Amino acid sequence: TTLALWAVIGYLFGSVPFGLLLTRALKLGDLRKIGSGNIGATNVLRTGNKRAAALTLILDGGKGAVAVLAGRAIAGEDAAQVAALFAFLGHCYPVWLEFRGGKGVATFLGILLALAWPVGIAACLTWLATAVIARISSLSALVAAGSSTIWMLVLGHGTAFFLGIALTLLIFWRHRANISRLRTGTEPRIGQN
Ligand code: G3P
Repeated sequence: TTLALWAVIGYLFGSVPFGLLLTRALKLGDLRKIGSGNIGATNVLRTGNKRAAALTLILDGGKGAVAVLAGRAIAGEDAAQVAALFAFLGHCYPVWLEFRGGKGVATFLGILLALAWPVGIAACLTWLATAVIARISSLSALVAAGSSTIWMLVLGHGTAFFLGIALTLLIFWRHRANISRLRTGTEPRIGQN
């Protein structure tokens, strides 16, 4: 029962759509009608407001990290992993938005930082390095997620290995429209619509 409780807690944390809430509060326009229509930081940046995008990144990452840290502090490592998985699912499939949520990248990075910080840092640096080279957010996310399980093995945090694989597969699934745009060379660069 405690693990089921952490699933619910994780989901509730993850399902708060900070990008939508911030853009609405700041009257930056309807995120659903801007760029990719996604609720994440990359699409918030397409409103032109860098601070709102940075805040979305921090809060969407933070909710994943908080779910993990709370689960670990109160109920241990298994609870932390369950909270992580469900925070991620909450972000991607929030009941409040008819299950049409985000793509999970910021939440994934926040989860990794809290779960195994060296792996989290490595994943963030991988995202950054790809973004500096290619300037495409979705590609950076796919490279960072795809390499994260390798980082886990290299840096010796294999306990989260299966969780890492599951989240990586979900990230690829959530990016299927981006992947087809990448294949046709029509995926916009960071900050472009
Ligand atoms: O975090 C999502 C990012 O990888 C892609 O966002 O809006 O370009 O589909 P977007």
